Amino acid sequence: MSEKLIIFDTTLRDGEQSPGASMTKDEKVRIAKILEKMRVDVIEAGFAIASPGDFEAVKAVAEAIKDSTVCSLARALDKDIDRAGEAIKNANSGRIHTFIATSDIHMKMKLKMTPDEVLTQAIHSVKRATKYTNDIEFSPEDAGRSDIDFLCRIIEAAIDAGATTINIPDTVGYNIPHQFGETIRQLIERIPNSDKAIFSAHCHNDLGLAVSNSLSAALNGARQIECTINGLGERAGNTSLEEVVMAIRTRQDVFNFDTNINAEHILAASRLVSSITGFVVQPNKAIVGANAFAHEAGIHQDGVLKHRETYEIMCAEDVGWNSNKLVLGKHSGRNAFKARLGELGVEFDSEATLNDAFAKFKDLADKKHDIFDEDLQALVTETQTEATEVIRLLSLKVCTETGEENTAEVSLSINGEEKSASAKTSGAVDATFHAILSMVNIEPTLQLYSVTNVTQGTDALGEVNVRLEHEGKIVNGQGVDTDIITSSAKAYIHALNKVMAHVERAHPQV
Ligand code: KIV
Ligand code: ZN
Repeated sequence: MSEKLIIFDTTLRDGEQSPGASMTKDEKVRIAKILEKMRVDVIEAGFAIASPGDFEAVKAVAEAIKDSTVCSLARALDKDIDRAGEAIKNANSGRIHTFIATSDIHMKMKLKMTPDEVLTQAIHSVKRATKYTNDIEFSPEDAGRSDIDFLCRIIEAAIDAGATTINIPDTVGYNIPHQFGETIRQLIERIPNSDKAIFSAHCHNDLGLAVSNSLSAALNGARQIECTINGLGERAGNTSLEEVVMAIRTRQDVFNFDTNINAEHILAASRLVSSITGFVVQPNKAIVGANAFAHEAGIHQDGVLKHRETYEIMCAEDVGWNSNKLVLGKHSGRNAFKARLGELGVEFDSEATLNDAFAKFKDLADKKHDIFDEDLQALVTETQTEATEVIRLLSLKVCTETGEENTAEVSLSINGEEKSASAKTSGAVDATFHAILSMVNIEPTLQLYSVTNVTQGTDALGEVNVRLEHEGKIVNGQGVDTDIITSSAKAYIHALNKVMAHVERAHPQV
């Protein structure tokens, strides 16, 4: 019999810390619902004290989710713990995750505190969290570079104070699998009260070892892994949920534990996170990349056709591939549209937003014969985005001719006022961006521009991602349309709206 390994998803918190990946409250709720459907055990919904918007988002997730535990991050500070406690108050099952750095370099250079002061603050914070919940996680930040004797002391004290999960973060992705596993083993062996808590691994991917380190931790006694969809996260990202879950499921001959995850929703979750954050999944990414189950070499294809297991160790269908069945078409009615989106975890807060999304669906059905779940998700992401925009695209006309410069004429509504401009340059997208920029008073730098198809075929929706940098702030914008110049304009406007709606947010780790 396999033991249970807890899956703690931090896409909405550590994943969101990736530059430009910030999510709105509604987007977080949509992602949380698919995580719940996947049977993720714990959803870290955010860092409640970061801003009023972050607090509201954690609260909304806590209220929307019934089956998973919902968690808020908090530094080891009273004000953070109180805010986190307030945000998770209405959860069916709520957790507070408090942390403080324990490596010499972090204590000395960042916190400017002695180890004894750090220990006292950790104990105080865990005790304070017990006012709000008895599900408390404590993380010694940068544990991967901390002194093991000090880790033993602070973890023993945190468990005595009430911590029920002890998370060991390799914050900077410095560890190597056998070494990280050994750290977990030693901690569990040496800490006298270690049997009173679940040990957890939280790995970053700076050396490409996050999944390996997490598996090594689990082989050495950790019973919770912290991860994100698509491995989203700061720098090189976090442990990828899909990789860790499928490694364990596929190699049950090696692992004597398994997760509760319903893997069939993995691909849908991956696509949702990618379309909301604008972080495109690379084609050769394990499990969820477009090529993950594609066979190019003739010899492989031949082998797979004769007997699938010759070259495939997993079934594509088990993680949601090939399930993008045709769902709706031109003649589908409003109720069928609403019902299908309900199945995808999307609810409308008013008749007006439903009508708006349905009008867009009809528009799309006129241009595109087959409509898949991915199309519906992209359409809803766009509708929800537009609701909060101050700049809106009214019309776009582009003229392109081989060998000639391209002209774009754009009309926008900016704060309700209609404006028009045109530009002529060597490319249609470039001309469109120039025309848009001439109507706003900022000059952001374009850091990334990418186009991907949402489904197959030349009539597919094209999804454009744009990343802009302005005065140190990085934002991502997305746009979808069957015409990729229009998608580009929408993505650019989406990003500009985010630049303009500047919100002060605290980062938990600086
Ligand atoms: O990487 C890290 O150390 C973290 C902590 C806040 C757990 O994300
Ligand atoms: Zn982290």
